[in-house]
Amino acid sequence: MGTPHIAAEAGDFAPDVLMPGDPRRARRIADLVLEDARQVTDVRGILGFTGTHEGRPLSVMASGMGMPSLTIYATELIRFYGVRRIVRVGTCGGMSPDVDVNDVVVALAAHTDSGMTASRIPGVHFSHVATFDLVRRAAAHVVAGARTHVGAVLTSDHFYLERPELFRLLTAHGTLAVEMEAAALYAAAAAEGAQALAVLTVSDHLLTAVELTADERERAFHSALEVALAALAD
Ligand code: HPA
Repeated sequence: MGTPHIAAEAGDFAPDVLMPGDPRRARRIADLVLEDARQVTDVRGILGFTGTHEGRPLSVMASGMGMPSLTIYATELIRFYGVRRIVRVGTCGGMSPDVDVNDVVVALAAHTDSGMTASRIPGVHFSHVATFDLVRRAAAHVVAGARTHVGAVLTSDHFYLERPELFRLLTAHGTLAVEMEAAALYAAAAAEGAQALAVLTVSDHLLTAVELTADERERAFHSALEVALAALAD
């Protein structure tokens, strides 16, 4: 079989998928957490791996960047490969003074001004929310040496567009951080009847212009991965 964007056979994916944006991150996560990992797809360089983690089947599949890309992969995984739970493991830019670089943000909800949502359910300001069970386990997991926040993020179509007034308003309304995929994941999971969560590390901050060193980035990535795995451990 296979789909337009995934060259895998039925049964090649586990019901649970960890989803970083970057295909090399997917390979890295597979190396770190999967036993008996095998690559199951590489269309467009978007790598997918399946193996086991602590005795349970688990897949890792990249999403690429932005809402359209993630929506294609998440929809096909759920609709054609029987995937039931997808946990995005990614990075975000801190918006709130309450979050620091290195912190972990569990995206309880994802605001967005994306046209993808406007076209999915016209006329409604759809609430993009994570699956409660996944949030509950992620929030309960304590990572040594890392702070975890649970709250709303902005899913933006833009990386480089500066919108200080919009960011000020969103921060004033409790938004913690900005990234580019969570709302799409939550909408696709809702549409396809699956579960979803995004666990993000704060890789940079809009207020402080602090950026992580390579070492710090690596440690922060491990923290998010640990929280993502805890979300799936039931
Ligand atoms: N904007 C959007 N996505 C991001 C950012 C950002 O500043 N940092 C990490 N992902």
